[in-house]
Amino acid sequence: MGQAARDHDIDWKQLLLERQNDSWNRIREIGVGQRHHLSDGATYVLADAIRWVNELPPESIHAVVTDPPYGLIEYEDKHHDKLKSGSGGVWRIPPSFDGAKRSPLPRFTVLSQDEIAELYSFFNALAYGLKQALVPGGHIFVASNPLLSSWTFHAFTQAGLEKRGEVIRLVQTLRGGDRPKGAEQEFFDVSVMARSCWEPWGIFRKPFNGTVAENLRRYGTGGLRRISDTEPFKDVIQCSPTRKTEKEIAPHPSLKPQRFLRQLVRASLPLGIGIVYDPFAGSGSTLAAAEAVGYRAIGTDRDGEYFELAKQAFEPLSKMVVKEK
Ligand SMILES: C[S@@+](CC[C@H](N)C(=O)[O-])C[C@H]1O[C@@H](n2cnc3c(N)ncnc32)[C@H](O)[C@@H]1O
Repeated sequence: MGQAARDHDIDWKQLLLERQNDSWNRIREIGVGQRHHLSDGATYVLADAIRWVNELPPESIHAVVTDPPYGLIEYEDKHHDKLKSGSGGVWRIPPSFDGAKRSPLPRFTVLSQDEIAELYSFFNALAYGLKQALVPGGHIFVASNPLLSSWTFHAFTQAGLEKRGEVIRLVQTLRGGDRPKGAEQEFFDVSVMARSCWEPWGIFRKPFNGTVAENLRRYGTGGLRRISDTEPFKDVIQCSPTRKTEKEIAPHPSLKPQRFLRQLVRASLPLGIGIVYDPFAGSGSTLAAAEAVGYRAIGTDRDGEYFELAKQAFEPLSKMVVKEK
């Protein structure tokens, strides 16, 4: 590379870093909600995601990695209180087949048409908010469930985001595969539905003008960070359910494993420059993953207990040693 090209390279990177610093200092103070500055590069705000995202200045974040309430109702007060008191609601304990105690999982088959319409509006409002807050070319990774992903993902494209594929997390969630309730012996050869062995994560991108190279220079976004020189980011990732040691650090009912989250978070900023946002931060696991890969990240959650949990869980989660892939 010649001197002129090197100067040009330094100029645009320097500009990106300066803009990122300005944006970071502003957005980590946005809103009136309580907040924990978990580290120099991570902030968690106690706030409703839909309201907070609309307070973000346009083009102030660079990527979103989030695990939302898939069916919405599972984190509504009525059902969430039942989960916390151990009395069910939409949360059910998967049948035990080896004597081991299972964690509750939400049953998405029980959603009514009205609840699905509400779910669609919620994700649509979120997608509109994220679209204005993201810089052009910014990527979104959003978790879903095979029963509901068609609704959620459609709500994102309807808001004007480009669908850029899906990441399939290969994982046995213990959803489905059961025999007909109350007639297990009679229909011992029948499963009501397939046992789920995967989790879809939609990949979306805010549209931009010009080429990917131009957008990378201007905003630091538009593509995905490669795993290495010889290996691009791939859309199938094998990752077992969250380990017990991780759950003990961060006892959230939907805790995602660091090993998986770090791969998505790392890929979400192609140059490693920018700010990652998790609207549904829960235990702070995405923020911890960002810290582990050296990125800045901000999260919101409206639940005070999870907000406090993240304060304890952030450091051990971010320092946890995980297998690279
Ligand atoms: C699936 S969990 C995320 C768990 C997270 N991935 C983790 O590993 O800890 C979804 C989270 O969204 C939160 N939530 C639900 N509705 C919300 C809203 N409108 N605004 C902000 N947070 C919300 C819930 O409190 C819950 O912690």
